[in-house]
Amino acid sequence: MISTTFTYRDALNFVSEERIRQSAPAVRAAFEQLNSRTGRGNDFLGWLDLPSQHDADMLMEIQAVTKKVSANSDVAVVIGIGGSYLGTRAVTEALQHHFSACRPTGAPKLLYAGNSISEDYLHDLLEVLDEVEYSLIVISKSGTTTEPALAFRVLKEHCENKYGKTTAAQRIFCITDANRGALRQLATNEGYTTFVIPDDVGGRYSVLSPVGLLPIAVAGFDIEKLLKGADEMRKVITQETDPEKNIAMQYAVLRYLLYQDRKTTELMVAYEPRLFYFIEWYKQLFGESEGKENKGIFPAGAIFSTDLHSLGQYIQEGERNLFETVISVKNAHHHVSIPFDKENIDGLNYLQQKSLQEINHTAEEGTRMAHVAGGVPNLRIEMDNISETSLGELIFFFEYTCALSGYMLNINPFNQPGVEAYKKNMFKLLGKPGV
Ligand code: PA5
Repeated sequence: MISTTFTYRDALNFVSEERIRQSAPAVRAAFEQLNSRTGRGNDFLGWLDLPSQHDADMLMEIQAVTKKVSANSDVAVVIGIGGSYLGTRAVTEALQHHFSACRPTGAPKLLYAGNSISEDYLHDLLEVLDEVEYSLIVISKSGTTTEPALAFRVLKEHCENKYGKTTAAQRIFCITDANRGALRQLATNEGYTTFVIPDDVGGRYSVLSPVGLLPIAVAGFDIEKLLKGADEMRKVITQETDPEKNIAMQYAVLRYLLYQDRKTTELMVAYEPRLFYFIEWYKQLFGESEGKENKGIFPAGAIFSTDLHSLGQYIQEGERNLFETVISVKNAHHHVSIPFDKENIDGLNYLQQKSLQEINHTAEEGTRMAHVAGGVPNLRIEMDNISETSLGELIFFFEYTCALSGYMLNINPFNQPGVEAYKKNMFKLLGKPGV
């Protein structure tokens, strides 16, 4: 049983039911290509099996490392970029206390490195690491990506200076390819504990592999529930063959039709700030998967009502090339009462009997009505609450719809040839030997 639902009632003002029905053969073809593993990039479909076929030894090893890191570290630094860190950040920031930086949580805090080349960022991180006990989790499938490799070189030296080479080696964990790449070679030479990113799982589809599972477990969250949620979603959306009943096919069809109508930007919206990094993860997943051959919907993101006070004007009245997908969370975990005020100078007593969650939902409803009236189609994904299980559901839902959407656009959703262009120029400008 999944708790995630998908609705598109408001999009029917923009896309007729007739067109939705006419798209059934196209989405069914994509669905069959994906499930029979015969479509483009089919050597990168290992993510389809991650929720159901995880290796018990790997999970035990993750729990053992988690215990060790929890016992000796206040902080675990996750070194990685793109798919090598965004999934972890999406899940942990959605689950952790909003102000976990300011209070003990009983688990090591995750800090991040290697996702930029900022000198000041790394400097400040080193200052923090001078004062805390820490471990390093280095993640790179290729093992050669410049940003994390540079950060790791600096942090490895810091770790060895702080703890000595032998103890540092017990505080460094690598997640990389089974055989290839500089990180694998380094890990072998130094005797680091390693986990493998399966060959057939690309970076942005890897959150349910050790890439996400290890740091998420280290941060104190239940990875078995995350996998279970993903598996429940997998069973539902890979088995329901009727496009009118399959929520992944429905979402892929709506995106496809809206794109045909030149709605070229999807604004992924949440009303919970803790979903900020989940939306960052979505942006990478869809941007890197769909944006090819001069095609693809541009994935943008916003947190409302915050961004209604910055982007709201544009969404309401700017260029009409947008549609919105709202991730709506039904239940809050906690309650904060609104006090009654005799003076009522701020005029808020009329809200006193309502919960903040109710007011947040009302903001959502009012925004939906205004945006639809302003020409912005609205799709809606609803989850009961934010938990490991519901995030697992959502992760697999987006991965699967992303693959379906890529096939409907007739592109390979699993490669990223365009990412090489900036690297080539940068290496040339830096004078990298052999370039
Ligand atoms: O999805 C992808 O494959 C990319 O975004 C990678 O995750 C990212 O470029 C990092 O690559 P690597 O893990 O090889 O360092």
